[in-house]
Amino acid sequence: MNLGIDLGTSRVTIYQPGRGVLLDEPAVIAVDAKSDKLVACGNEAVTMLGRTPDSIRAVKPLKKGVIAEYALTEQMLWYFLRRVCSNRIAKPCVAVSIAEKITEVERRSFIEAVYAAGARKVTLVPQTVAAAIGAGLDVSRPCGQMVINIGGGTTDVSVLSLKGVAVSDSARIAGDAVDEAIARYIRAQYGLIIGELTAEELKIKVGGAMPREEALTAVAKGRDSITGLPREVVVTSDEISEAMAETVAQMTAIFHRVLEVTPPEMAGDILRNGLCVTGGMAQMYGLTAYMTRLTGLPCFVPENPALCAAIGAGTALQYSSSFSEIYDLNSFSYRLSGNVTN
Ligand SMILES: Nc1ncnc2c1ncn2[C@@H]1O[C@H](COP(=O)(O)OP(=O)(O)OP(=O)(O)O)[C@@H](O)[C@H]1O
Ligand SMILES: [Mg+2]
Repeated sequence: MNLGIDLGTSRVTIYQPGRGVLLDEPAVIAVDAKSDKLVACGNEAVTMLGRTPDSIRAVKPLKKGVIAEYALTEQMLWYFLRRVCSNRIAKPCVAVSIAEKITEVERRSFIEAVYAAGARKVTLVPQTVAAAIGAGLDVSRPCGQMVINIGGGTTDVSVLSLKGVAVSDSARIAGDAVDEAIARYIRAQYGLIIGELTAEELKIKVGGAMPREEALTAVAKGRDSITGLPREVVVTSDEISEAMAETVAQMTAIFHRVLEVTPPEMAGDILRNGLCVTGGMAQMYGLTAYMTRLTGLPCFVPENPALCAAIGAGTALQYSSSFSEIYDLNSFSYRLSGNVTN
């Protein structure tokens, strides 16, 4: 059994070639605070965030694209793998999409966690390569294709050609940073402290990289920073767009940096092909229009942009022997043209 996994900061997506997406749930785990025994995972655990008694810890074990709490990541993945492989005896071979710029220690911790969660073989695939394959781009051609994956924790940008990464960069600033900017604004402007789920909801419902054509309003509920009492305020879409503008600009500045160092032939290809935007944040209102305004380049979002990395990782696993950029598992070293399908 081959599986592609996007073990993300916000969500875990598991894809099996030939069968489709088997699981797509929030990357959240709730455990007993004393014994670390599993209480809930994924959809069941996400509503517990910020609402737990002292006896329960509900956390997102990955932060900014890397493993922040190793034991909890392993436990969460073990639970998810057991759900999708419940009636199988053989352990699965797994390809995991990871952020572009992570340290050797962070990479090793991914490999160890996935093995410990029950995988037979683990391959790490750069997130933009996985996303490009999942988006259906033909990465084998001698033609520069730019892919930008914006998730919860990281923004990864690569120019791909001939199955390899020609230029890439990554920043640990993405959806979560936008949520934090919104929460900071609501606190500064209204003296109201809101939780991360509320901030994310405001971002999705009324936020945007560009002002909305039709102004919207939303209710933000939280705790007054002075009186400590529950309170709510009504916010407008213009306010939320303004609150997130600086973070969105930082997030998108990274692909400017990549464009600046892209060899001229490939820059010409990008001008013709446009930018492929994937990851959950690709669905943000006005993002592609904003990026086009910034660069003058056409942008497109594939169908189900948040699922592309998992789909592409699973697909890459099948054809991994022909990929020039695969990270090796047992030796933890970066190797060229590895064959991991056996
Ligand atoms: N419709 C939407 N509008 C704006 N943002 C959205 C929308 N849908 C999802 N998001 C955001 O996308 C982000 C999650 O994207 P994704 O699932 O690609 O992240 P991830 O793979 O878990 O994270 P990473 O790859 O950074 O580790 C979250 O910040 C979420 O709020
Ligand atoms: Mg991701």
